[in-house]
Amino acid sequence: MIDFKEYINKRREAVDQYLREYFSKKFQPEILYNSITYSLFAGGKRLRPLLAIASYEACGGEYSHILPQASAIELIHTYSLIHDDLPAMDDDDLRRGKPTNHKVFGEAIAILAGDALLTEAFVMFLKSEYFSADALVKACRVLADAAGARGMVGGQAEDILSEGKEPDPDTLFFIHTHKTGALISASVRISPILSNAPQSIYDSLTIYGEKIGLAFQIVDDILDVTGDEEKLGKKTGADKKKKKMTYPALYGIERSRAAANELIKEALAAINMLDERAEPLRAIAEYIIKRVE
Ligand code: IPE
Ligand code: IPE
Ligand code: MG
Ligand code: MG
Ligand code: MG
Repeated sequence: MIDFKEYINKRREAVDQYLREYFSKKFQPEILYNSITYSLFAGGKRLRPLLAIASYEACGGEYSHILPQASAIELIHTYSLIHDDLPAMDDDDLRRGKPTNHKVFGEAIAILAGDALLTEAFVMFLKSEYFSADALVKACRVLADAAGARGMVGGQAEDILSEGKEPDPDTLFFIHTHKTGALISASVRISPILSNAPQSIYDSLTIYGEKIGLAFQIVDDILDVTGDEEKLGKKTGADKKKKKMTYPALYGIERSRAAANELIKEALAAINMLDERAEPLRAIAEYIIKRVE
């Protein structure tokens, strides 16, 4: 048995240190630098980098080797949060326990900080001493697909278009698997590519990623209803206010929790054949559902 807390703290600290060092040198205009680092170091859970790391370790890799690629995903995620909070999107004023980026730096700089984070992610991703150019290109393509119009951005667009509409299962599934599932699933899929793992491992990790990705957004929806603002670092009740298409809106809290629970079970089953090096992946899956138990 691994000490999950200790494992997570150590890996999270490694990601934070990598990011801090990467952004240690200020650039101009200073407000753009401040805006980027404000959101990046506001205290996110670092779930996606941790997933990439845990997946890489499950494939037998040494975690320090994948820090640039794992951390790059956090840049994309952070950009998505800055844009998600904008007045034209979810119009939120609290994120990661602090005023949202546009509240502090203004909308124009918040948009540009997001643009910069997205672009920088690929510069960071392609930094490597350990991977072949071929593997990097393949993994980079997976990440770009997941972040773009056929992935996260597509999901965000449907999320906005569906505000105020009568929830239906297909649209809801599309929104959640795209706006959140895509990037989470890509986080676990880059690792078998970078470590040249067999196709069967890639396939198992893909199923694991898809299941926990959807479960994570269902849990996020539930926490918007039942969660604690202080603990979440963001305002609760925001989805109802915006008439968002969510799992609780369509199925109610209990059925949403049961659905998330089932998905986590399926995710665990998908990586059943992996050895003890997959323990952190199992622990992360369990952590996701524990947030609403
Ligand atoms: C929030 O993601 C947005 C969703 C996709 C649900 P996280 O809950 O991972 O946010 P941070 O990174 O910990 O702030
Ligand atoms: C956000 O979903 C998904 C992305 C940022 C891509 P939400 O809008 O539900 O996330 P929160 O609740 O604001 O963190
Ligand atoms: Mg949103
Ligand atoms: Mg939002
Ligand atoms: Mg939410």
